[in-house]
Amino acid sequence: MAKVKKAFFCKNCGHEAPKWLGKCPACGEWNTFAEEIIARESGPAAASAAGALPTAKPQRVGDIRESDQRRIDLGNPEINRVLGGGLVPGSLILLGGEPGIGKSTLSLQIALAPNGLKTLYVSGEESAEQIKMRATRLGIRNEECMVYAETLLENIVAQIAEQKPDVVVVDSIQTIYTDLLDSSAGSVSQIRECAATLLKYAKSTATSIFIIGHITKDGAIAGPKILEHIVDVVLQFEGDSNNVYRILRGIKNRFGATFEIGVFEMLDDGLRGVDNPSEILLTHYEEPLSGIAVGASADGVRPYLIEVQALVSGAAYGTPQRTATGFDARRMSMLLAVVEKRIGLKMFQKDVFLNFAGGFKVADPGLDLAVVAAVVSSYYDRPVGEGFCCAGEIGLSGEVRPAPRTEQRISEAARLGFRRIIVSGYLGKGAKRPRGIEIVQINSIDQLPRALFME
Ligand code: TYD
Ligand code: MG
Repeated sequence: MAKVKKAFFCKNCGHEAPKWLGKCPACGEWNTFAEEIIARESGPAAASAAGALPTAKPQRVGDIRESDQRRIDLGNPEINRVLGGGLVPGSLILLGGEPGIGKSTLSLQIALAPNGLKTLYVSGEESAEQIKMRATRLGIRNEECMVYAETLLENIVAQIAEQKPDVVVVDSIQTIYTDLLDSSAGSVSQIRECAATLLKYAKSTATSIFIIGHITKDGAIAGPKILEHIVDVVLQFEGDSNNVYRILRGIKNRFGATFEIGVFEMLDDGLRGVDNPSEILLTHYEEPLSGIAVGASADGVRPYLIEVQALVSGAAYGTPQRTATGFDARRMSMLLAVVEKRIGLKMFQKDVFLNFAGGFKVADPGLDLAVVAAVVSSYYDRPVGEGFCCAGEIGLSGEVRPAPRTEQRISEAARLGFRRIIVSGYLGKGAKRPRGIEIVQINSIDQLPRALFME
């Protein structure tokens, strides 16, 4: 009988310590240490796992065959785009998101899509019957999709080896466990060990594995940060669960750009990709309203237009309230301070509420100008000119800087029939100027009110 070995792990970052600590020396979080039994069987099991790996040798970069990097079309344009143009064989992908956001639905749809791939959907959360019910609702368009309700990692790996699927989904990493460790499923050591085993398996057999991970309420993927380091791609599924729209965002991608997003709509029969996000993010009003501005955003290669709403009202209490939904609250405070100083509006006496359409979370600095436009419009209670939109980043001294990919933003605004776009004065001379849209260039935000309200 092996001696029981125990250790303490930080639940936030996975730091290991021999004794309990109040504060994690690695990530600085308080009260995150928990004891876990790690009576690891050293010897045969670990050795054979290592033996299964092909022994690699250094080779000249020119000699490496590139065909190994071909990409698999998953049959879903939104997911293909977020992955950087398709799935790379042998990659390990972490799909994170809050409970109920649609991770299981999305991953089952990947498994059921008519992509000609052999897929295996492993669920530790639902029974095979439950999955079948969901699959029927989503539409079974891939006869080669296998479903497996199991939580023991060794069984899962054995089945993957037997079935030899092209794509595996493990729903979720917090519910599976390995016999090698005595700690319970979902503990730091289990998550780490299971992910590491799946990684080895994915790399040695060129099987792509999607791992689903829950997210804690502060937005981090539950379980150690180490999970994010292990995997090749980290995707985050986000959105307001009261709303039908969802965004799939690439946070890390070893095989492509991370700024890509995929937009989905949750319907009765699953998630449908939204080809034209601007359509859902712009509202058509009968008559112009104050406090509404449109920003031309660009996440990844796809630009879209999104509506920002601001409400500026007299502060009811001594300290003004500032609430932002879908936008970084600190960035909003910074923008309000700039407005106060450079345009001279008395923001210190005002409550400010800010909202992005569709429950979208945006992190694009190019939307600064639209945020300020909405605030200014609400402050003066004066609607922004019809068909106007903005794209620009704002600096601390009120200067308007060009947003990344301004040209694409302008083209998208022109395509959607906008009449005027307000951008930075520093837009390059060679920039394309599509017909039908007036490009107003400003260098500083004190020029913004004029550009917004003048016909
Ligand atoms: P689910 O994929 O189970 O979420 P997660 O795995 O991230 O916890 O999705 C749960 C929600 O999605 C649930 O509230 C119902 C809704 N839903 C639909 O609206 N339409 C559908 O076709 C499906 C399958 C789910
Ligand atoms: Mg689920």
